[in-house]
Parts: sequence; structure tokens; C-alpha cells
Amino acid sequence: MTPNLIQQSAQIIHQANTLTILTGAGVSKESGVPTFRDALEGLWAQYDPQELATPQAFTSNPKLVWDWYEWRRKLASEVAPNAGHIALAELESIKDDVHIITQNVDDLHEQAGSQNVIHLHGNIATHKCFDNCRGIPTLIDITTLTYNKDATPPKCPYCGSNIRPNVVWFGENLPQYELNTAIEYSQNCDVMLVVGTSGMVSPASELPRIAKQHGAKIIEVNPDISTITHYADIKLEGASGEILPKVIEALHEN
Ligand code: APR
Repeated sequence: MTPNLIQQSAQIIHQANTLTILTGAGVSKESGVPTFRDALEGLWAQYDPQELATPQAFTSNPKLVWDWYEWRRKLASEVAPNAGHIALAELESIKDDVHIITQNVDDLHEQAGSQNVIHLHGNIATHKCFDNCRGIPTLIDITTLTYNKDATPPKCPYCGSNIRPNVVWFGENLPQYELNTAIEYSQNCDVMLVVGTSGMVSPASELPRIAKQHGAKIIEVNPDISTITHYADIKLEGASGEILPKVIEALHEN
């Protein structure tokens, strides 16, 4: 990573009126949340997350999928934002028009102080009725329910269906308002900063291309190659917790 690329990125961000940030699992990795495509350890090592994160998996084995999400929910509740989240939150205080679109179901951006965050794939800390019996989404606060933890998942108090995590699974539609807003922010930004996503899951993976087609500069932060890398204007190769604070430092010098 040449300091020059950091300087150039800071310069581009400095000149932008509107900045949209797309984040993925990589930004939370340094907080201790495994990415979706990391090999898992311990109890869950034998499972492929992509096979558990589907409505079909939940229908055929609700307890397995519930327990897997409870494990992830607990993990997410125990970790703290890292230097990458904090640097992204700082961007909001440096520039006026900054929006984060995240594929992550944790709330580490908010914990770091970011205010304008759109969650495309839901929120692992909340739950809903599998059948959304009272409208999309029918959110249910499971802390108000009495249920047998060995016979999970708990049941919807309105219709008796299983309760599920309030996240978007493979094959499901994204929440309409969030998706529309994300497209709007992608179409209207001068710069899109793409951090820690493999770009393998659509429609989130299409947002940088939409931004590019509308004239935005794309700056990518990722230690590896993603589906975005080949059309990024600048690729900052490395961990977001290391790279992003350097970009902020360079911005302060601008
Ligand atoms: N800093 C930045 N990027 C990192 C870091 C790091 N420290 N460590 C890993 N990465 C990168 C990886 O190189 C990879 O490109 O983060 C990316 C993580 O990719 P995925 O696990 O595919 O995560 P993501 O792109 O967010 O997945 C999208 O797929 O499984 C679904 O709904 C799930 O939201 C998720 C979506």
C-alpha cells in the first residue's frame, strides 16, 4: 500500500459533495465477527453458513437455524466497533453528506457513532414472525415471551408460527424502502467507498456499479480481490481497521 494511494483517496473524498459508503462483513472482521465466507471453528465448523441462511433451511430444521443465529447474535452483542467503524463514523463529522449502506446485521456502525446507516440485510438483534402475520415485518420482542429454550424457536404470540431472526436470507427480497434508498444514494454520490465486501451477493453487489455508471469514483478497501476490484478507481489493499484511519488522517491534512 503506497502512501500515495491514501493521499489520492483523501483528496477525492475531500472534493466530493456526497459520499456513499457500502460495507460488508470485512469491516466487522477485526471486531471478531467472522465473515460469511470464512471457515468457521468449533461447534459450527461442519456447517456452511450459506446453507443455513435460507428460508428452506429454517423450514426443514428450525431449531438448527435458530440456534446458529442465536450463536451469531450473542457473538455480535459481545463485540465492539473497531478502528474501521470509528474512522467511517468520523467521516460523518468531517463531511456533510455521508451515508452508509451496510450488508451487516450487527449494529457496530451505530455503536461507533454513525447516524446515517441503512441496513440492507436486516438486524440480527431483532426477530419477526416467519409468516409476517401482521404485516411486513411483524417484529416480536422475544424478551417479553416465555418459552422453552430447548424447544426453540419460540412461537409468534399472534399466529403461532415460528419466530425467526429479522435478517434477509438467500433468495429473499430486501426491505423495499432500504433498497430504494440505497439505490438513490448510489445514483447520487460523487464517491462510493466500498469496504469489506466480496461483492458476491446481489443486489448489494450492484450498487457500486450503479454509482460508477452515474459518474461516481469508486474507492475500495479490501485485503483481497472482489467483484468490484476491476472497476474501482482506487484499490486500497488491506484491512479496513488499518487503512481507514490513515485515510482520515490524510483528510485532516487536506
Ligand atoms: N478489512 C476489510 N475487508 C476485509 C477484511 C478486513 N479486515 N477481512 C476480510 N475482508 C474482506 C474479504 O476479503 C471479503 O472480500 O471482506 C469480504 C467479506 O466477504 P463476505 O464474507 O462475502 O461478506 P459480504 O460481502 O458482506 O457478504 C454479503 O452475503 O452471506 C450473505 O447476507 C450475507 O451480508 C452478507 C452478504
